Amino acid sequence: MSIQWFPGHMHLTRQAIADRVKAIDVVIEMLDARLPGSSANPLMQQLTSGRPTLKVLNKQDMADPERTALWLAHYNAQPNTHAIPLDASNTAPARALIDACYRLAPHRGGLFKPMRVLICGIPNVGKSTLINTLKGRRAAKTGDEAGVTRTEARIVLADDFYLYDTPGMLWPRITVPESGYNLAASGAVGKNAYDEEEVACALIAKLKADYPQLMEARYPLGLTPEAWAQTHDDELLEAIGRQRGALASGGRVNLQKAAERVIADFRALHIGRITLETPEQFARWLKAGQRADAERAARKNKLREEGHIRPERTPAKKTAPRKPR
Ligand code: G4P
Repeated sequence: MSIQWFPGHMHLTRQAIADRVKAIDVVIEMLDARLPGSSANPLMQQLTSGRPTLKVLNKQDMADPERTALWLAHYNAQPNTHAIPLDASNTAPARALIDACYRLAPHRGGLFKPMRVLICGIPNVGKSTLINTLKGRRAAKTGDEAGVTRTEARIVLADDFYLYDTPGMLWPRITVPESGYNLAASGAVGKNAYDEEEVACALIAKLKADYPQLMEARYPLGLTPEAWAQTHDDELLEAIGRQRGALASGGRVNLQKAAERVIADFRALHIGRITLETPEQFARWLKAGQRADAERAARKNKLREEGHIRPERTPAKKTAPRKPR
């Protein structure tokens, strides 16, 4: 699926993170607990160069608790990493995050060695909500359109605790197709950047396999879990559209409306607490995506070597802006 989602300011964000990380003690990486693997920015590892990382599985109140436990165990087994679940609007657990930072960087604290924390995450993951909760008032603007936070800001949570906020950042190309669908379904991507029918069908494919009972409870089509799993996604979208009254003239189903309904139901928790991926599933997708990517690059290289396509352009060297005379 093609997603148009790397607006210019995201290049600036990437640079801002790379510059800031040099003087940072802990990185808080906010993830969406409904899609922890897909909402993790693959550039982060490279940008944060091994800094201690606190993975925050936010929106845990919307996610499947059993799968959240799997993800926490997965991250907590990684070196220099600690993971916690969170509902960003909840004050006490949000404050536990501060303690977790001290555990990751115990040598920091006090006026001479303040704790410096960088917080990052994809748009809409709940960063502004968390910052507002931590501050106890509305410091950062929250909103439902992807990418409301725009500029880096330093937030002083205590005299010796600084939080550096960065704009929500996405990455230029998605190597894992399933991640593209999951990100779109979750609302991380602006709605003009994807095809709703395609995303709804991918969502149905996932939910009919992993959560057929929840689907039957929300959309009573009279199907057994096996029948849900065996029916084609397009047919299910049509049946759901009919059941929910997403109709056009002549009583025909309006698939666009049906798709919007399924996506909205998922986002509003009307289907239930759902996590779209397990660590094991995501690892499999990632491997397949990386393999497909490598094969594509090899095919392209071959065509280039054989003179069928243009040689790769070397990026123009950046020159320092001329000083005004
Ligand atoms: P961002 O800065 O990372 O872009 O995200 P932001 O805080 O603006 O949050 C995006 C949406 O997600 C907001 O809802 C916010 O209330 C919701 N949200 C954030 N954290 C959590 C959480 O832990 N659990 C749940 N259930 N929701 C969360 P909105 O409806 O788009 O905006 P608003 O009407 O709440 O302001």
